[in-house]
Amino acid sequence: MTEPASTVTQALRARRSTRAFLPTPVPRAVLEEVFALALRVPSNCNTQPWRAYVVSGAQKDELRQALLDEAGSGRPPNADFDWDVRFEGEHRERQFGAAAALYGTTGIERHDRAARQRSLLRNWGFFDAPHAVFFTMQRYLGMVGAVDLGIFAQAVSLLLTERGIASCFQGALGMYPGPARRLFALPEEVGILFGMSLGYADPDAPANRTCTGRIGLDAAVSFVG
Ligand SMILES: Cc1cc2nc3c(=O)[nH]c(=O)nc-3n(C[C@H](O)[C@H](O)[C@H](O)COP(=O)(O)O)c2cc1C
Repeated sequence: MTEPASTVTQALRARRSTRAFLPTPVPRAVLEEVFALALRVPSNCNTQPWRAYVVSGAQKDELRQALLDEAGSGRPPNADFDWDVRFEGEHRERQFGAAAALYGTTGIERHDRAARQRSLLRNWGFFDAPHAVFFTMQRYLGMVGAVDLGIFAQAVSLLLTERGIASCFQGALGMYPGPARRLFALPEEVGILFGMSLGYADPDAPANRTCTGRIGLDAAVSFVG
C-alpha cells in the first residue's frame, strides 16, 4: 500500500504513477470524500467545468473489455480533444526517459515491440485497478477547460495519496472514447479529456518500482527581481 501522507509536501513526495493495482475496491465513502474535497480547487472564473465519471464493479469490467478490444484492434485513436502533439527536443528525451524507466523495471527490452505493445495495452485494462475515472468537459472550452480539469485531477490524485490510495493519470483513456461515451450517455457537445486508474498499489509489482527524474529548480523556475 502507498504510505499515507499527512501533509501536502509528503503527498507530493509520495505520489507516483502506479501501473499495477490490487483488486480490493476503495470504499465508496472514501471516494466521495476525495472528490468532494477536490471540488474546492480554483477554476477559471469559477466555471468548474468538470464532470468526472468514476466506474467500478461489473460496469468497469465491461468497459475495460470494450476498451481493450478497441485499443487492441489496431484502429487509430479518435480522441475527443487534440492530443496529437509530437514531443520535440528535451521533451522527447524526457518522454523516452519515462518509457525507459518503466521498461527497465518491467524487464522489457527496447526492441521487443510485442512486449511494449502488451505493456501499452495495460492502460485500457486500467492496470487491473478496481476503479477508473474519466474526466469530461464541454468540448468548446478547449485549452481553458483543460487547465481547470488538470488542476481538479491533480487535487484528486494528492487527496488519494494522502489516504494511501494510488493512481495513474492516463491520457490513453481519452484515445478511444467510444465505449465510455456510450456507457455515460455523453451528449455530443461533451468530450472525455483524460482518465485515471485508482486503487491500492500492488506492492510486489515491478512496474510500481518505476522512478522518474525531475529537472532542477533553475531549469524550471526563474525568480525575477
Ligand atoms: C496528463 C497526463 C497524462 C498521462 N497519461 C499517461 C498514460 O496514458 N499512461 C501512463 O502509463 N502514464 C500516463 N501519465 C503518467 C506520466 O507518464 C507520469 O506522470 C510521468 O512519467 C512522471 O512519473 P510519476 O507520475 O511517477 O512521477 C500521464 C500523466 C499526465 C499528467
